[in-house]
Amino acid sequence: MYKIIVNNGEQEYTSEGDESVLAALARNDVVLPSACGGRGRCGMCRIRVFSGGSAVTELEEKKLTTEQLENKWRLGCQTMITDDISIELPGQLIGSAQYECTVEDIEDLTYDIKGVRFRMPEGKSIEFKAGQYMQITAPAYGKNKKSVYRAYSIASSPSEKDHLDFCIRKVPDGMVTTYVHEHLNVGDKATLTGPYGDFYLRESNREIIFIAGGSGLSPVQSIVLDMIDKKINNRKVNFFFGACTKEDLYYVEKFRALEKEHSWLHYIPALSNETDVGENCEEGLITDVVDRYYPEFTNHEAYLCGSPGMIGACLKVLTAKGLDESLIFYDKFS
Ligand SMILES: Cc1cc2nc3c(=O)[nH]c(=O)nc-3n(C[C@H](O)[C@H](O)[C@H](O)COP(=O)(O)OP(=O)(O)OC[C@H]3O[C@@H](n4cnc5c(N)ncnc54)[C@H](O)[C@@H]3O)c2cc1C
Ligand code: FES
Repeated sequence: MYKIIVNNGEQEYTSEGDESVLAALARNDVVLPSACGGRGRCGMCRIRVFSGGSAVTELEEKKLTTEQLENKWRLGCQTMITDDISIELPGQLIGSAQYECTVEDIEDLTYDIKGVRFRMPEGKSIEFKAGQYMQITAPAYGKNKKSVYRAYSIASSPSEKDHLDFCIRKVPDGMVTTYVHEHLNVGDKATLTGPYGDFYLRESNREIIFIAGGSGLSPVQSIVLDMIDKKINNRKVNFFFGACTKEDLYYVEKFRALEKEHSWLHYIPALSNETDVGENCEEGLITDVVDRYYPEFTNHEAYLCGSPGMIGACLKVLTAKGLDESLIFYDKFS
């Protein structure tokens, strides 16, 4: 039996070995952030290892910088327990917890995106920063022999502490999204862990550019609702939402109503694959629309959320027009 010594002895767990730190911690209800299910792809399960554990793998050398490796950062999913191990957990885990929630509502937002509301357990409330995400666990079902979890951004406002809303897009053959879309029903229990993440609104007086695609609308909605709740009305906000066709648009009425009520908010949906986009909607790829909108960036900061491809393309457009990378924040949904 090996010891897992956490944060200088603050916590101690045991392991019989032959498992990763990520798995050993999860057995003890300490759930590291992860979007790839422990496959060494997302780089989110970072911990510091001071002594013990298996040797650094090639995957870790690709995912971590030389500086991070020198500072003892490792991937929790690639660090195997081979002996007693002393580790430090990232600060963002403080305040995150595991909740057994109940599904209160499920609605079709588009043909492949469902809105799901989870009610917090009786007597529990949740604190999070608008823009953060939770991990939703799908239990073992069908061909999946093990439970798996993935990251989903919270779509509701932090002021709503008794429930959490999500927009979940179906990925063909995806483990968690197939579970949510085809097996989860109102009244079911589900395990959620979090909150995690550093995608949140920075304090400044800059104009805000939000760019989202698909389910990337979730954290933007949470931030906008939070700004309304906190009466942050001194910053101009342009929210660009990119979709292929009209069938991919959702919450249009909601954002139209919000922009009517709040003059600082401007909602700009854009369709890339539609010849007749209709009124109040832009035509073209979201990157081209953003490019057309801004001759230059003077006092702006940008928040991007969606597929890695969309984020990469947006980064190019924004930086080419002079927006400093330090003023661009993003969550890649991969
Ligand atoms: C910080 C963060 C926040 C996120 N928030 C949301 C959110 O609010 N809503 C949401 O729907 N998703 C969100 N995601 C994506 C989510 O975590 C999962 O990656 C996604 O739902 C697929 O999970 P799965 O288990 O169904 O698919 P998996 O079983 O993991 O994957 C099945 C196959 O699909 C591929 N694949 C995985 N993800 C995608 C994808 N997004 N698009 C296309 N192919 C993919 C995989 O490479 C694999 O081949 C977020 C991701 C991150 C990192
Ligand atoms: S869980 Fe994704 S890299 Fe470790």
